[in-house]
Amino acid sequence: MRYLAIRDRVYPTDLNPNGTAFGGFIMSQMDKAASIMVEEVIVGKAVTVFVDKLHFNYPLHNGDIYSVYAEVVKLGHTSITMHITFESKCGLSKVCYNICDANFVFVAINDKGKPISIKALLRPDAHQWLEGLEHETADT
Ligand SMILES: CC(C)(COP(=O)(O)OP(=O)(O)OC[C@H]1O[C@@H](n2cnc3c(N)ncnc32)[C@H](O)[C@@H]1OP(=O)(O)O)[C@@H](O)C(=O)NCCC(=O)NCCS
Repeated sequence: MRYLAIRDRVYPTDLNPNGTAFGGFIMSQMDKAASIMVEEVIVGKAVTVFVDKLHFNYPLHNGDIYSVYAEVVKLGHTSITMHITFESKCGLSKVCYNICDANFVFVAINDKGKPISIKALLRPDAHQWLEGLEHETADT
């Protein structure tokens, strides 16, 4: 199930010298959305370990409203893989665009920064985000 992690507007400080949104801004919002999704699933610390291909399909403009959705697609032993989608709505035309999407992998870590099993960290209501997933969180 998709989770709306962020909805906001593009401001002038988010723009590159060409006048469209800076790619790093879009990527940071996607990473932030993934980190928010992780907190819906587990209680504890987690870090980004991997991001797969990012393709920017359309430019994002000043004033556009954007939404960043997260969906858990895989639960590993210590990792959670999420599909993150960055969509925008043009302020004037209200036309929606799929700006980009990518898979983000986060790893649960302990206080020493080492990977730990996420099984014991799952929130009681995490199942709503995990329906239909193959769990790899056996007691190993
Ligand atoms: C994340 C980190 C703790 C992982 O440590 P590690 O010793 O490499 O971990 P492991 O090899 O045991 O892998 C841990 C999990 O990450 C997954 N993983 C590691 N590298 C991966 C990659 N390139 N792609 C996909 N998954 C990956 C493994 O499959 C494993 O998942 P699983 O337990 O669910 O099967 C360590 O690499 C790290 O601290 N990286 C820096 C993180 C960071 O600073 N991120 C940016 C800021 S949040």
